[in-house]
Amino acid sequence: MQPVQMTLELPSPACTSKNIQALIDHLALNAEVNSRGAIFTRREVVDFILDLAGYTEDQPLHTKRLLEPSFGGGDFLLPVIERLLRAWRAARPHGSPLDDLSGAIRAVELHRETFSSTYEAVISLLDQHGMLANSATALAKAWLSQGDFLLAPLEAGFDFVVGNPPYVRQELIPVALLAEYRSRYQTIYDRADIYVPFIERSLSLLSEGGNLGFICADRWMKNRYGGPLRSLVSERFHLKVYVDMVDTPAFHSDVIAYPAITIISRETPGGDSYCASPSH
Ligand SMILES: C[S@@+](CC[C@H](N)C(=O)[O-])C[C@H]1O[C@@H](n2cnc3c(N)ncnc32)[C@H](O)[C@@H]1O
Repeated sequence: MQPVQMTLELPSPACTSKNIQALIDHLALNAEVNSRGAIFTRREVVDFILDLAGYTEDQPLHTKRLLEPSFGGGDFLLPVIERLLRAWRAARPHGSPLDDLSGAIRAVELHRETFSSTYEAVISLLDQHGMLANSATALAKAWLSQGDFLLAPLEAGFDFVVGNPPYVRQELIPVALLAEYRSRYQTIYDRADIYVPFIERSLSLLSEGGNLGFICADRWMKNRYGGPLRSLVSERFHLKVYVDMVDTPAFHSDVIAYPAITIISRETPGGDSYCASPSH
């Protein structure tokens, strides 16, 4: 693929970090479903993606690090926790949950109300799995954070990044916030939707050999705005699996055009790839 020329608009000097924080707070408190791209994923699709990415219970999952960059109602997060707990109990029946599991998950969500209800759901799931209340609270605090994934400080080195990133057109993002994103992400080109820098940042946080498993629109693979992301993936990563999900009921609501599952790994490009379109 040919590299694509890009023009980046830098944020105006008047755009202070205080202003940016105020914009994020506004989105976190008020944003309508459309302006934060909230569409939730069906359980069977989540399980399929976790399997494809290799987040399976036969692995020592407590020794791995997984990131969910926009966890919403927990459609990925809760099944991930179930897999983690089962794998951990089998490997370390007498292990300490805090020592063994605190580093296993990082999950981010922008919307405050959504964050709080999923935080409670995580604690309740840990309780159902027999965890003591104070360990459950400590783990939920270690795992979950509320904020903007595109700006949040996060340590790299994840073995897995999984989820369904938000779909937000540029017109719906406040101008100063969009300028801040543009100054940080080389893939925001032309009319790129917010899921494009989500993929860029997620890839940048993968460890060597780590896998990203997303369900999201596949337009970046085909159209003009996806040029810089395609270049990045083809130069530094390996697109392992592509499953076309058009006409397959992947979500709880029916709104994303051209959804696809993609598994991308941080490894030398050029290995085996698998492409599929499910029959209906
Ligand atoms: C498409 S939903 C996916 C939720 C969940 N991952 C799933 O698969 O069901 C996207 C979520 O991203 C959140 N979100 C939007 N912008 C965000 C941002 N900049 N940082 C983190 N989360 C964000 C939305 O509030 C919403 O809950």
